[in-house]
Amino acid sequence: MKEIHDFKVLERRQLGSRYFALVLEHGGRMQPVVPGQFVEVLVEGSREVMLRRPISVHDVDEERGTLTLLIQIVGNGTRKLAELQAGDKLNMVYPLGHGFSLPLSTFHSPLSTLLVGGGAGIAPLLHLSKVLKAKGVSCTILLGGRTAELIPVRDEFEPYGRLCIATDDGSLGHKGLVVEHPAFAEPYDMIYTCGPTPMMKAVARSAAERGIRCEVSLENMMACGVGACLCCVTDTDEGHRCVCKDGPVFDISTMKKWYK
Ligand SMILES: Cc1cc2nc3c(=O)[nH]c(=O)nc-3n(C[C@H](O)[C@H](O)[C@H](O)COP(=O)(O)OP(=O)(O)OC[C@H]3O[C@@H](n4cnc5c(N)ncnc54)[C@H](O)[C@@H]3O)c2cc1C
Ligand code: FES
Repeated sequence: MKEIHDFKVLERRQLGSRYFALVLEHGGRMQPVVPGQFVEVLVEGSREVMLRRPISVHDVDEERGTLTLLIQIVGNGTRKLAELQAGDKLNMVYPLGHGFSLPLSTFHSPLSTLLVGGGAGIAPLLHLSKVLKAKGVSCTILLGGRTAELIPVRDEFEPYGRLCIATDDGSLGHKGLVVEHPAFAEPYDMIYTCGPTPMMKAVARSAAERGIRCEVSLENMMACGVGACLCCVTDTDEGHRCVCKDGPVFDISTMKKWYK
């Protein structure tokens, strides 16, 4: 169920020059969050930023009652959010949207998955990798960026699967695009991806050619976040769909028009 709630900033971590993470405490009973769901954050104290900003849930700690957001500073809203300090409050509507589907591995049919993230698109993949591991699903986590500095929090993924890195400049891992990493060509039961649109389209095209089930998490610009304003619409094989309400996660079997 959706909730509007003032979270308290427990911790703020700067991650290089472009990213920061906020650990947010609910202070009561938190709503369950499916990996891939997002929050709409109210940016207070800014005249320029009237609309809430959509941010994926990066991590969830149900015992502590905390959510973590991983945020890339790109404009006025995220710059203002970067000023938050421990003890400040942050008003959020959550959980929003349709998350990733979560297959269950069994002893007789162990599942192997590939998670492909680029840029701020790596954010929802941490919560996803944790939940998949808890379900006995094996994960290869393939993260890409222009340079090593632009792949923050990569160490956080290590406990949850095999971690592979691709950088354009070769400063870490394989030199090249994520789709050129040798691990990308291996067989998988399912591929999940979030990141820049050209990256996700390349991943989707390859998954379709290889007959691998694949889900993409779109990051279209949003306003209301609940399906009322239609500003986040994407064209799918089933007609126009709101990324905020029908997505952000879509199965590529309905997205041929989008990735072709
Ligand atoms: C479902 C969803 C989940 C998201 N999760 C995260 C996340 O976990 N971490 C994170 O850092 N960002 C995430 N984003 C992107 C984030 O919402 C935008 O970067 C943010 O709203 C920009 O606000 P701003 O005021 O700083 O920038 P603006 O001043 O609004 O814009 C600055 C620049 O960023 C571009 N921009 C704005 N929004 C987007 C967008 N959605 N996609 C691509 N470019 C955009 C603009 O075109 C402009 O060039 C997510 C977006 C969606 C839709
Ligand atoms: S953001 Fe308003 S309909 Fe999606």
